[in-house]
Amino acid sequence: MHSLDRFAREKLDDLRQRHLYRALNDTLREDGIWVERDGRRLLSFSCNDYLNLTQHPAVKGAAIAAIAEYGAGSGASRLVTGNHPLYAELEARLAAFKNAEAACVFGSGYLANTGIIPTLAGRNGLVLLDELSHACIYAGAQLSGGKVLPFRHNDIGHARELLAAHRAAHDRALIVTDGVFSMDGDLAPIADLLAVADEYDAWLMSDDAHGIGVVGGGRGSSFAGNTHIPVPLQMGTLSKAIGSYGGYLCASAAVIELMRNRARTLIYSTGLPPASVAAAIAALDLIEREPAYAALPVKKAKDFTARAGLPEAQSPIVPIVIGEEQTALAASRYLEDEGFLVVAIRPPTVPAGTARLRLTFTAQHPDHEIERLAEIIREKVLM
Ligand SMILES: Cc1ncc(COP(=O)(O)O)c(C=O)c1O
Repeated sequence: MHSLDRFAREKLDDLRQRHLYRALNDTLREDGIWVERDGRRLLSFSCNDYLNLTQHPAVKGAAIAAIAEYGAGSGASRLVTGNHPLYAELEARLAAFKNAEAACVFGSGYLANTGIIPTLAGRNGLVLLDELSHACIYAGAQLSGGKVLPFRHNDIGHARELLAAHRAAHDRALIVTDGVFSMDGDLAPIADLLAVADEYDAWLMSDDAHGIGVVGGGRGSSFAGNTHIPVPLQMGTLSKAIGSYGGYLCASAAVIELMRNRARTLIYSTGLPPASVAAAIAALDLIEREPAYAALPVKKAKDFTARAGLPEAQSPIVPIVIGEEQTALAASRYLEDEGFLVVAIRPPTVPAGTARLRLTFTAQHPDHEIERLAEIIREKVLM
């Protein structure tokens, strides 16, 4: 056997032995919530399409119209000829929605984080991360070449300690956190983090991949609880509640201009297809027009946690931490037999020993199905 294939096979065997092997499953999403897998129709509690906008006629219509007008792809980097006119409209809309001076759209949330963090931190920079931050925040921090220090989850005291010990040795410091934690569903203490950041002249960035569209009246975690916390770097993605694809940063005009000049994932990657940008604009129209609809995923998650006897949900994401990989996989299979798709999340996506079921609630999940799921979880999974 060629050494390359031997290497791959040995790695795969190791993953299988540790119950960490992953396979792609064909999934036909017939509407916002029902999916078909292996010929079975399942109600999905695993999509991040919180507002079911991937399937909304206005969103799909906007994408189709953009293809008709501008073509299927953008043809080049935004800085060459890929900057079709829909970008300016989307960026102005995002900036206004997030109460920022300006916005910059990237190819994805992953590309946004791996572009923004190195642009701001660099080799002499210090990057503090909540330990449960998304993998692409870690990737961006590592790419920056600066000193990377995770702080304990949502622990302001630990973040302050690290700043007190290390800030002086670095030209710049960045604090990065998920606004809504992707695998845990809790919110970051944004106001307290901003206060600590200001104390040490550090710059706070929140990643609102799971906040935009669903918390703070749809405007994200900086707007939760009817307040507006002026986070200077509000990053997020267009691929979850917005129902499209792409990432963004909302910030001051100067920071955004710097991104357009220096962020490598913006400069050296092709612009988004016009359809994705048009779909995102149409989704923002709907969210701004109907804040009551945007509140539904969190409401449904709260209904579920109350019925299942779990701590109250803070976002549309509800984790049920199980521990062992095999047990989490078995629980997922059991729910599949009951007609629910609830994918098991295993390390390294979550820390070792915390394999879990991660449930996501959307605006259109029927209440009677939420009740049935809560009963099964309470009586068969949590017992
Ligand atoms: C917190 C967080 N940040 C960033 C991303 C990456 O976004 P995208 O899927 O648009 O690349 C995700 C989702 O996968 C996420 O959960």
